Amino acid sequence: MAYATNDLNAVRMLFGMGLIAAMDIILMTIASFSFMVSIDLRLTLLAIIPMPFLSFTIGYFGKKMHKRFAAVQKSFATLSGRIQESISGIRIVKAFNQEKAELAKVDEVSLEFVEENISMAKISGIFHPFMSFVISTSMIITLFFGGRAAIRGDITIGGFIAFFQYLGMLVWPMIAIGWIVDMYQRGTASLKRLNEIFEVQPEVDDSEADQSIQHLEGKIEFKNLSFRFGEDLPLIFKDITTGIDAGKTLAIVGPTGCGKTSLIELLVRIYNPPKGSIKIDGHELYRIPLQVLRRDVVLVPQDIFLFSDSIANNIRLGNPDASIEAVYEAARIANVYEEIMDFEHKFETVVGERGITLSGGQKQRVAISRALLTDPQVLILDDALSAVDTKTERHILERLIEVRKGKTTIIIAHRISSIQHADKIIVLSDEVIKEYGTHSSLLRAGRHLPRTL
Ligand SMILES: Nc1ncnc2c1ncn2[C@@H]1O[C@H](COP(=O)(O)OP(=O)(O)OP(=O)(O)O)[C@@H](O)[C@H]1O
Ligand SMILES: [Mg+2]
Repeated sequence: MAYATNDLNAVRMLFGMGLIAAMDIILMTIASFSFMVSIDLRLTLLAIIPMPFLSFTIGYFGKKMHKRFAAVQKSFATLSGRIQESISGIRIVKAFNQEKAELAKVDEVSLEFVEENISMAKISGIFHPFMSFVISTSMIITLFFGGRAAIRGDITIGGFIAFFQYLGMLVWPMIAIGWIVDMYQRGTASLKRLNEIFEVQPEVDDSEADQSIQHLEGKIEFKNLSFRFGEDLPLIFKDITTGIDAGKTLAIVGPTGCGKTSLIELLVRIYNPPKGSIKIDGHELYRIPLQVLRRDVVLVPQDIFLFSDSIANNIRLGNPDASIEAVYEAARIANVYEEIMDFEHKFETVVGERGITLSGGQKQRVAISRALLTDPQVLILDDALSAVDTKTERHILERLIEVRKGKTTIIIAHRISSIQHADKIIVLSDEVIKEYGTHSSLLRAGRHLPRTL
């Protein structure tokens, strides 16, 4: 937020006001000087004696202003981040009686911001008067020597008055130089911060994509997949080899924290899997353009995010041109249509931060509708029915099986009821696949599915 507001504004000021003021200074200075020289060269030279101070002042204060402004912006970013978090987490803060503690934290970062600003103001406070001081010294010199010359008759009184007026016209450019230096230092400090963001190379990119792959059927293979989130973090998977044919349903179960979400995040390349470990339709994952991958493999994530927009627009997210009938149909399959129709504004009800809050189960079903509307070749439900009751779940799964016929579906679940219909079930645990089979074959073999499913 800070980058997008304050830093951007500092750059905007530099290129807008800064540029105009610079043009103004150049023209005014050249014009005033030439007239001054034409009146009296010696007096002009005397008048510009204090000018070298200018470059010294600008050089000295400029660097300091640059540094201090960067610190101001950084502390503004911390402050706005802090406040944003406190406000969006306001309910949890209240629930834990932490209003005072939260205020104290905001106080602390506010004070830091104040201190950084004061430190900046100290520099600006010296710098600007210094610029005026330089021009005032020029005026004193002019009054003294120019006045004497006029009394002696070396220059006419008219010439002296004109000279003094032209010198007066330099007052504004001198002040403006101060401004510009200030703006320049702020603008470049902000630009540097912005460039740090612009220069970040996304880790997940299309550099190895084969653009001729434009469609996916949905046959998925994991081969010897080992993965960890960071060099010093533990292995999440070790040598996982499994897969699912196009059009089939795969269920992934296993205790919490075993890596179910991570596995499918690798599949849709939210993180980069090791090369050669995942294939779709026989294509190495890196060769599939991200645009195609994420159009044909659609995920209903465990953490659902709804925008502050109408329910209809939230459902339309992946398919903005869908007709309202299609939206209704998706909501019917996800078994949330009736509930939405009971709201006062029906599908136009605004949800999220600026609207009403949906229940956990409603959110999940809106998210499922959103995924269904794109009718993807591969649909992944990551614990997407955990917040609905078993009866509703059964309704949804029955309809889902019907509409997903011939398409690949991956269901991650903790409840046995969610995975009965799967063609294949894999049980993840301790970095490896413990067992797999169908629901009945696993039961028949006596290898009971973990209770915690
Ligand atoms: N971005 C990440 N960086 C580091 N570790 C992570 C990251 N994401 C997940 N993990 C870790 O990886 C492990 C597996 O997490 P994951 O979310 O895949 O589990 P899960 O099986 O989906 O659990 P649940 O059933 O609770 O949803 C956890 O120990 C988690 O802390
Ligand atoms: Mg998970």
